[in-house]
Amino acid sequence: LRHLITLENLGADMITRLLDRAEALRAEWFSQRRKLDLLHGRTVVNLFFENSTRTRTSFDLAAKRLGADVINFDIASSSTSKGESLVDTLHTLEAMHCDAFVVRHKENGTAEFLARHVRGSACVINAGDGNNAHPTQGLLDAFTIRRHRPDFSALRVLICGDILHSRVARSDIHALRALGVGALRICAPANLLPAQEELPGVEIVEDFDQALAGVDVVIMLRLQKERMQQAQVPSEQAYYARYGLDARRLRLARPDCLVLHPGPINREVEIASAVADGAQSCILEQVGNGVFVRMAVLAELFDT
Ligand code: CP
Repeated sequence: LRHLITLENLGADMITRLLDRAEALRAEWFSQRRKLDLLHGRTVVNLFFENSTRTRTSFDLAAKRLGADVINFDIASSSTSKGESLVDTLHTLEAMHCDAFVVRHKENGTAEFLARHVRGSACVINAGDGNNAHPTQGLLDAFTIRRHRPDFSALRVLICGDILHSRVARSDIHALRALGVGALRICAPANLLPAQEELPGVEIVEDFDQALAGVDVVIMLRLQKERMQQAQVPSEQAYYARYGLDARRLRLARPDCLVLHPGPINREVEIASAVADGAQSCILEQVGNGVFVRMAVLAELFDT
């Protein structure tokens, strides 16, 4: 693995290898609770042009637990505000012998663009670009599901919410299809659905109650208002009435259905507190797993 930009071109073998590695790193962490030195002498830069709690913090922790130094580049106080371009920023940091760049940006393709402009051996990891891809979220969602339900071929998974603007949905779909998920269903308001041709092999079900019938996993997504045009923004109350996952609706799924959400959650907009905090919720487990998955990605990129 040279860079991690998307899961589209990663096959089942590489995805499984990363998940297995995350599992091993998780076991090692819980048995020893000490930093490893796999990335000793390396420097990882977090370049977040969009806000983040989970992804930035977990990359920071992942790199530190592998023994790397970490720079959390502060965009607001950097010379990007004086007009320095992205590529010049990259080359400036490369000149200081930084080894990996974790990039989040609102524009699709930014991580891939920077990966093409790397001059030396540094690697680029996409931490989310527009509505295009969030590969480590796709991996950590697959990892979380696999820990509970190892046989993907038997699984029926539903993704519900603002699919149109969701890089998480796209990366989840790639990961789950690569791993041979039994059935993949999505549910969203018509104006928040991508074109059918963007979703090969995915069943679209308009009614949320019907979509939930018999599913083993439901992945809820938030409304990404920051990517919407004004006309697309629904009333939160109306949206919750049609697409909110509450306790009644969850009972329409299988009794042991797992509930995932990449976060941040908006309570009583797409998910009820009783469900988000309930026994079937894996939401905080996803957050914890994100650190191990990101450790696995960094270790694999550095070939250690
Ligand atoms: N899931 C996710 O990407 O969360 P953050 O925006 O907090 O990183």
